[in-house]
Amino acid sequence: MDGRFLNRVAVSALISVVALGGALVTAHAIVPDTAPAAPVFRLPDLRAVPVAPYMVRASLAHGTMLAGRICAQCHSFALGSEGNAGPVLAGVVGRNIATFPGYAYSAALRQHAAQIWDDQRLSDWLMAPARYVVGTRMSFAGLSDPQDRADVISYLHTLHTPAPTLTPATGESR
Ligand code: HEC
Repeated sequence: MDGRFLNRVAVSALISVVALGGALVTAHAIVPDTAPAAPVFRLPDLRAVPVAPYMVRASLAHGTMLAGRICAQCHSFALGSEGNAGPVLAGVVGRNIATFPGYAYSAALRQHAAQIWDDQRLSDWLMAPARYVVGTRMSFAGLSDPQDRADVISYLHTLHTPAPTLTPATGESR
């Protein structure tokens, strides 16, 4: 292997690199970058929206109307009216998740039974139930407007129940 041969190899390698670079530059010039400036569609934003500011100005009247129109299709709001598709919502605020006695919850929702339904959890749930608890049987798309959610939650607050009947089971199997 003499020096001239090595020279030729080096020169041809250099030519290849320059040609490749040139091709890339030309390609970019001919085919413009096609990535859209903004996403074409957006998935719903699932970062929790703090519900407290909306609770402050919640409309009970509007929440009562929404609950009657939407939630009542599957839920009842008073004790003694079990048998609907969904669990009775009386006393749901402050109750452990998936613990209304006698209701056959999905395994997915029962996994959260150690947690309590507070305003924020209810809001996150009602935003998109199937996303908040993957595998839930609550086939309801959700309330996208945080104020609507707060209004409904303020209505749920009015559904008081005699506490003893609804105290959640404390771990022992029923
Ligand atoms: C299409 C029927 C349907 C509609 C409409 C519906 N739900 Fe439900 N909901 C269910 C079912 C079924 C469950 C039980 C889900 C499971 O076990 O995974 C449930 C569960 C719940 C729970 C959990 C209760 C618990 O004891 O842990 C809450 C809270 C709730 N729904 C609130 C609402 C509210 C508020 C609305 C109205 C905005 C609503 N749901 C609309 C069917 C429905």
